[in-house]
Amino acid sequence: MNTKQLGNSDLFITPIGFGAWAIGGSGWEFGWGGQDDHDSVAAIREALDHGVNWIDTAAVYGLGHSEEVVARALQGLSRRPYVFTKCSMVWDEQRKIGHSLKGESIRRECEASLRRLKVDVLDLYQIHWPIPDEDIEEGWTTLARLKEEGKVRHIGVSNFDVGQMRRALAIAPITSLQPPYSLVRREAEKELLPFASRENIGVIAYSPMASGLLTGAMTRERIEHLPADDWRRGNINFQEPLLSRNLRLVSLLRTIGVRHGRTPAEVAVAWVLHNPAITAAIVGARRPGQIKAVVGAADFQLSASEVAEIGAFFAKAAA
Ligand SMILES: NC(=O)c1ccc[n+]([C@@H]2O[C@H](COP(=O)([O-])OP(=O)(O)OC[C@H]3O[C@@H](n4cnc5c(N)ncnc54)[C@H](OP(=O)(O)O)[C@@H]3O)[C@@H](O)[C@H]2O)c1
Repeated sequence: MNTKQLGNSDLFITPIGFGAWAIGGSGWEFGWGGQDDHDSVAAIREALDHGVNWIDTAAVYGLGHSEEVVARALQGLSRRPYVFTKCSMVWDEQRKIGHSLKGESIRRECEASLRRLKVDVLDLYQIHWPIPDEDIEEGWTTLARLKEEGKVRHIGVSNFDVGQMRRALAIAPITSLQPPYSLVRREAEKELLPFASRENIGVIAYSPMASGLLTGAMTRERIEHLPADDWRRGNINFQEPLLSRNLRLVSLLRTIGVRHGRTPAEVAVAWVLHNPAITAAIVGARRPGQIKAVVGAADFQLSASEVAEIGAFFAKAAA
């Protein structure tokens, strides 16, 4: 798989990274229903076998569990992939999630992530959410110090707006931004992506298949029967009035894919990657077979007329 430099860093990353949110499993506020850890490890190994060279996780995914499963998958590898994780979402003894950008909290989080991931340095450490806004400077200063101290190699942000990135840049360079970006979430195009390009900030797009909705495996029936603790039940893209449009979009992705022997998931991810401001896409998977069916997006290019065909679909849907 080819690689691209991530912003100002010395990391050359594959167009697809493994997203480790869903493998955090259930038992917390943003869980994806039950998850088998053996399946999770196998899914990560499958991604690495296909050449994926980075994993994106976060302390909060499964309240530490995702990082532990990533560590298990990395055990015994002669060469490990880059490991990216995030801080700022913390939890208490009742497993209630809160936010903190306080220096001492981030330092505590960093030590805990290093311990769970069983690595001696984090390749990319990201602020997960810019909350609370007034503590952004304290949080970013702490990440810059952790980099100086060698605990983390590079630092990035997620879910920041342009104003918040400007405030961070006044303190230290930003290696990467992690925003939502997919066919059904294009807000980043307006200000975030042009700003990131201008400032040489790498962009790793999250939820490129709209958390499974654009893969072709999500049907109306399946959505109705999603487990009670799968957060997607409450997401607007999985509900009417948007659901009907989204399922029609999947039909179009399938039609385009069939022309090239590609899956709808590959078409959805290839569409994300065709934007030059995007360095790479973070693709989530929960069991073996899933990465295999989407990894081809890394070397699949949509033609200009196919991109226009997708654009025309949205123009018609909005009319
Ligand atoms: N920074 C942030 O705030 C933030 C927010 C969201 C995500 N992220 C990052 O981005 C990553 C990816 O986002 P995401 O997990 O929301 O969504 P995604 O990559 O758009 O979709 C992943 C889901 O699609 C389904 N899937 C994957 N491959 C498939 C295939 N070949 N065929 C059928 N279904 C398939 C799986 O769920 P099912 O099998 O259950 O359908 C999988 O969990 C996350 O893991 C996380 O690392 C970050």
